[in-house]
Amino acid sequence: MQRVLIIGATSAIAEATARIYAERGSRLHLVARSADRLKTITEDLRIRGAAEIGHGSLDVNDVSAHAAVLDAAWADLGDVDVVLIAHGTLPDQKACEASVETALAEFATNATSTIALLTLISNRMQQARRGSIAVISSVAGDRGRSSNYLYGSAKAAVSAFLSGLRQRMARHGVDVITIKPGFVDTPMTREFKKGALWAKPEAIASGIVKAVDKGRSVAYLPWFWFGIMTIIRSIPEFLFKRLSL
Ligand SMILES: NC(=O)c1ccc[n+]([C@@H]2O[C@H](COP(=O)([O-])OP(=O)(O)OC[C@H]3O[C@@H](n4cnc5c(N)ncnc54)[C@H](OP(=O)(O)O)[C@@H]3O)[C@@H](O)[C@H]2O)c1
Repeated sequence: MQRVLIIGATSAIAEATARIYAERGSRLHLVARSADRLKTITEDLRIRGAAEIGHGSLDVNDVSAHAAVLDAAWADLGDVDVVLIAHGTLPDQKACEASVETALAEFATNATSTIALLTLISNRMQQARRGSIAVISSVAGDRGRSSNYLYGSAKAAVSAFLSGLRQRMARHGVDVITIKPGFVDTPMTREFKKGALWAKPEAIASGIVKAVDKGRSVAYLPWFWFGIMTIIRSIPEFLFKRLSL
């Protein structure tokens, strides 16, 4: 039976992923900032077959609370096989351009908080010498674009951090998996018009669980985003700066 810790557990992608683990009969420990949402999700996961479900409450920007929340998660699960970090926001790029405070606050939610959590989590997993750490980054981190480069730069920081962490943890028997979804139909993207490139959270969740099971390093979800981002990364700067993306 797998013991799974999910941070940002009220995210639509995280919830869909938790359902898959629940259907496998896993033990879950869910961390999020909304106690009410967690209660509803927990009831659903119990019906779906989760062995046991523990809770933690956390605003990820309260870095001083991270250690206690993780202590409680480890105390609840005993040992942890899979960690999924899923929280995030989609910042208003224009607001980030207008305000240093907004830009840094959004960077903190999408990058610094994740780096802080990973620092504590990786030290614990290193001691155990086993397990998987999966983190939801984004294809947006592959190249900064004028329409959302605050978000993109935060996700790029997370992806680069994970790349180094993966190399370090490989020597200690721990898999580190960078999840790079493309466009996903969730509350985060409620305002966007959806088209052919859009995926449902359930499809992303199934890709996350497969990537963890197989010990993959980087998973573009759905897979075709690997091709799209290879093309976008290869556009020379002199051309790229004239495009509106
Ligand atoms: N949707 C996409 O197109 C897409 C594409 C690529 C990557 N991603 C990434 O996928 C991950 C999951 O997002 P989603 O699409 O599932 O969106 P979502 O349903 O809106 O989930 C975002 C989650 O982040 C949590 N969160 C935000 N700020 C927080 C804070 N300060 N402390 C604690 N939790 C916080 C939210 O909690 P509350 O419910 O309390 O606000 C919510 O549970 C994110 O990392 C996102 O960047 C999404």
